[in-house]
Amino acid sequence: MTSRKKAVVLISGSGSNLQAFIDHINDGQLELDITLVISNKPDAFGLERATKAGIETDCLNHKEFDSRLSFDHALMQRIDETHADIVILAGFMRILTAEFVNHYRGRLVNIHPSLLPKYPGVDTHQRAINAGDEWHGASIHFVVPEVDAGPIILQGQLKLTDNDTASSLQQRIHTIEHQLYPQALSWFSADRLTIKNNKVLLDGETSAKQLQTFEV
Ligand code: GAR
Repeated sequence: MTSRKKAVVLISGSGSNLQAFIDHINDGQLELDITLVISNKPDAFGLERATKAGIETDCLNHKEFDSRLSFDHALMQRIDETHADIVILAGFMRILTAEFVNHYRGRLVNIHPSLLPKYPGVDTHQRAINAGDEWHGASIHFVVPEVDAGPIILQGQLKLTDNDTASSLQQRIHTIEHQLYPQALSWFSADRLTIKNNKVLLDGETSAKQLQTFEV
């Protein structure tokens, strides 16, 4: 039996994805120990969610560092004190240096609210609407130095409706994120993921489970 993996979760805001991890762990659907939650913003609501769940928190305010690299060095030091097996970006709105990303290569994951490689960066929901896309979604991927790129673990998609606004889409996408991210983490925790030729395999193969369609 594999031992439970230790995770550090990095957030900047509401932490609704963090809450989904906590709920799935408490329900026994996700085998993972979140040992620390770190925010780069002191007022991130996710810090309260973590405290309520009995998880240690820390805040490294990026404004108190004189460079991106010095912030990342402090972050790495704090994460490495915990001997984390996986570092989870859950709404962490900072670009990370290549040094940071390479240090955690293969154990650093992110969620992005689009069907990557479509719409890296910001305003993904409005961009999908403006383009008249039929489908929109969220992607969970291993992180590489290039922003919002990297081998994709799992994607979830839903159909846009004529009534969708950026705000309604954000809510709909959040609903699917809260199912997808715990799922992806449970695969990681069970050692079911490998990366080959820049593609993520589940149990050694490309799986239909890696693109899921939702009706929400
Ligand atoms: C999520 O929707 C996530 O996809 C997005 O931030 C939100 C955080 O929500 N991430 C990015 O845009 C990263 N480029 P949460 O704080 O409620 O989990």
